[in-house]
Amino acid sequence: MKDGANRKRSRPPAPHSHPWQRRLLRWFRGHARDLPWRRTRDPYAIWVSEVMLQQTQVATAIPYFHRFLTRFPTVRALAAASLDEVLALWSGLGYYARARNLHAAAQVMATHHAGELPRDLEALRALPGFGPYTAGAVGSIALGLDVPLVDGNVARVLCRIEGWESGAEESRARAWERAGALVVVDEAGDWNQALMELGQAVCTAKAPACGRCPVRPECLAAERGDPATYPLARPRAERRHLRFVALAFFDGPRVLLVRRERKGLFAGLWELPAAEIGPEGQASRVALRVARSFAGMDATVEPAAIVRQTLTHREVTVEPFVVQGRRARPPPQGRFVAPQELASLGLSSLATKTLRAVGICAAGKR
Ligand code: ADE
Repeated sequence: MKDGANRKRSRPPAPHSHPWQRRLLRWFRGHARDLPWRRTRDPYAIWVSEVMLQQTQVATAIPYFHRFLTRFPTVRALAAASLDEVLALWSGLGYYARARNLHAAAQVMATHHAGELPRDLEALRALPGFGPYTAGAVGSIALGLDVPLVDGNVARVLCRIEGWESGAEESRARAWERAGALVVVDEAGDWNQALMELGQAVCTAKAPACGRCPVRPECLAAERGDPATYPLARPRAERRHLRFVALAFFDGPRVLLVRRERKGLFAGLWELPAAEIGPEGQASRVALRVARSFAGMDATVEPAAIVRQTLTHREVTVEPFVVQGRRARPPPQGRFVAPQELASLGLSSLATKTLRAVGICAAGKR
């Protein structure tokens, strides 16, 4: 049986919670999805799930969650692993700083907190990757602390209930204050999840289902008749377009990969050697220049299928080329990798797609 949402409670309601809060809690306990991280009380597992669920859909996170917990069942197991292995298990989930921080925080917990999550908000906030949301989620759901959290769903739900005539950014700031005042003492974990779940399942951004909403009588935005317009829209900034060439240098079946620097986009992940080209740059000319700098002046290049990927603020196009020529000299951060080794390296989805375009399949990578 589930532990969190469906736990039977004999306790009377906390004295200062409003009737609509009791209604929302009851709705959550009746409607909560049965998710793997709701079947456990292990704070470590709940922490891992909360980190995965930032920027990632539930259905995508579930198989990653199982694989991660099987390979790293405890804080100490995670702390003892290499960063490469952690990134390899994270490959395809995106936002790789999450994995690096998870690993770094596990190492702090192993060294300074007896291999456990510290049980107060201040100590949590001091750990790598524990921003206000993660500390609130882990604090309330995993550790039972009476602390609030705000994510995009909670900010939208509160903005509508309160009828704030403000944009998303301002609503989020106001939501922290309001969420702090609304925490249901002794039930903060379920309360916070109830707000998030309401935002995901009912009070959605584009099509709120007010007819099914347990908070409908309290909601100012619904009363005014057009809740989907809350928070107020702001014109979207255009995504920046980046173009790269990527080079596939082979040595028999092995291919040359380089590891990206520890900072910036795709930090610490592996990929084909690449060079950025401007919007007007000629890909084949740049590719040939890079190919010759690695593999001598006789090298030639042949184009493969172009790969595209949309990231949060960027549109990325990679034009891959297969190099024919002498064996390339690997740069200091590069080495030739056999296809069967690829599964143990951290590769972004973009790098995996690019490898596929030049005929290399990284087993198990999306
Ligand atoms: N989104 C992220 N974490 C969540 C949780 N524990 N419950 C509902 N939605 C979530």
